[in-house]
Amino acid sequence: MKFCLNIKSLKKNFGCNSVLSNVDLEIQSDKVTVIIGKSGAGKSVLLKLIAGILNADGGKISITQVSDAGQSSEINLKDLGFSYMFQNNALFDSLTAFDNIALPLIEGNYNFKSSQVRLKVDALLEQLDLLSSKNKFPGELSGGMKKRVAFARALVTEPNIVLFDEPTTGLDPEKKFTVFEMINQYKEQFGFSALLVSHDIPEVYEIVDSIAWLDEGKIKFQGSKDEIDRIADQSVKNYLKTGRFNSKVRL
Ligand SMILES: Nc1ncnc2c1ncn2[C@@H]1O[C@H](COP(=O)(O)OP(=O)(O)O)[C@@H](O)[C@H]1O
Ligand SMILES: [Mg+2]
Repeated sequence: MKFCLNIKSLKKNFGCNSVLSNVDLEIQSDKVTVIIGKSGAGKSVLLKLIAGILNADGGKISITQVSDAGQSSEINLKDLGFSYMFQNNALFDSLTAFDNIALPLIEGNYNFKSSQVRLKVDALLEQLDLLSSKNKFPGELSGGMKKRVAFARALVTEPNIVLFDEPTTGLDPEKKFTVFEMINQYKEQFGFSALLVSHDIPEVYEIVDSIAWLDEGKIKFQGSKDEIDRIADQSVKNYLKTGRFNSKVRL
């Protein structure tokens, strides 16, 4: 599905703490967008506002769907279809891989027959190379297998957009790379667009089309890697390239 998710003047306060004062952001279908910014900048809050887990205090999030014939119409996030992938996988330890993956289909008011659920989950188990883990519990799976089960659970409802909040935090460098590769590969295979929050600069840039820098309640930059190169302010350019201010890396 071709769509554009448009965020305009989004605001969020917690009491006197103004976290987002004026966020503008555009997310295009079939793209990978990453939100970067220092700890506490409001990245998770922004994802939760997009996912509808939190309500905004102002501004607007709108989604425009563009049909094959070129006609555009406004839709809501539920109709777009989204899922949210948690950092720690958030699998249920008492459920098998199969039952974990089936859960969104059963809890989501889709009215699928159990035979349809079985078909969908089995297809995903096969596509993600998890058939041998089908009846295992999370405690019996390796870290990589658990990540794939979490991925399968996020994909089983066929979302058009998947939100990832720091999917690689706490992983060693090699595993980080594997997770980014996984996002990239499944994006091609299943055709979702991805919105992620990440600290792993520059590693995450390998898979992203658009980079958005959240700072002081606003998106201060949104653009591609090439556009970072054209930023005149050296310290901002340096930060966006390395993830660190005052980095000694020469550019
Ligand atoms: N549910 C909440 N209630 C009150 N304050 C919150 C809540 N969630 C986040 N905050 C505050 O919002 C700010 C941004 O948090 P967060 O989005 O988690 O930052 P990060 O960019 O590190 O993900 C922080 O100051 C945090 O304390
Ligand atoms: Mg966060």
